[in-house]
Amino acid sequence: MSSRFKEEEISKNKQLRLEYVKDFVEFDDDDIQALKSAGPVLGPVLPNLIDQVYFKLFSYDPTKQVFVQRYGSLDQATGEKILTLDSSAIKGRKDFLTRWVKMIIAGDYESGQIWKYMERVGVVHAGASLKHGPPLFVCLRDCLLLFGWLETILVKTLLDVPDSMLSIEEKARTIAAFNKVLWIQAEFFSHAQEKDQPPRSEILMSKPVGFALMVVALSTIVTAICWKLATGI
Ligand code: HEM
Repeated sequence: MSSRFKEEEISKNKQLRLEYVKDFVEFDDDDIQALKSAGPVLGPVLPNLIDQVYFKLFSYDPTKQVFVQRYGSLDQATGEKILTLDSSAIKGRKDFLTRWVKMIIAGDYESGQIWKYMERVGVVHAGASLKHGPPLFVCLRDCLLLFGWLETILVKTLLDVPDSMLSIEEKARTIAAFNKVLWIQAEFFSHAQEKDQPPRSEILMSKPVGFALMVVALSTIVTAICWKLATGI
């Protein structure tokens, strides 16, 4: 147990909260290196991955409606009457998501710039004011579902990479690093949506952060066990 982190201080100090989250999921320099090493192999498949994300979001009414409500059903640029995956508004959103994946892989972890970016991404979905449009609200349920699904796709994609490009050990390290960083990003989403709730110190561990971190720990352990069973490493 690390005594560095006390609930009253984590709730008040943003930097300490981030340290707590990173410490809990055991995110370290090896993870940063593992993410960077995935760049060359994920680069070529990235456009397809992003297409899959938006296909998924358009396959369910609750998630598709977020886009229809935001951009209307008329595509301003082409005059199309129906918002589709090829509409210019959606192409713009795909660019945002592509940038996010690239930042996760090769962002500036050293200066901490990446954490500011990840915090902003969480805040953007939780009703922050935006220069270019009305505030956006996406419910946490759908954000977390997308994280879960995305992680499965990333694991499958990395497992499919030939061993000659990324050794089995490198794949294991990269999958673990993605698992950790996705959960850190998910925690930023969760935190951004908690702002109207009582201070965390008043509801000690009864709400999402404690629960989510427990799920991360379990998810990492289960991934490691499956990996050991599958590869015998
Ligand atoms: C894995 C979870 C998600 C990630 C990583 C993600 C990532 C992003 C990023 C990077 C941006 C651009 C933020 C900026 O302005 O800098 C963005 C914007 C946006 N996201 Fe998400 N997103 C997620 C979940 C969702 C879900 C579930 C929906 C809808 C159902 C959604 C709808 C939107 C919309 C509509 C915008 C555009 C806001 C605007 O007009 O600028 N996102 N997202």
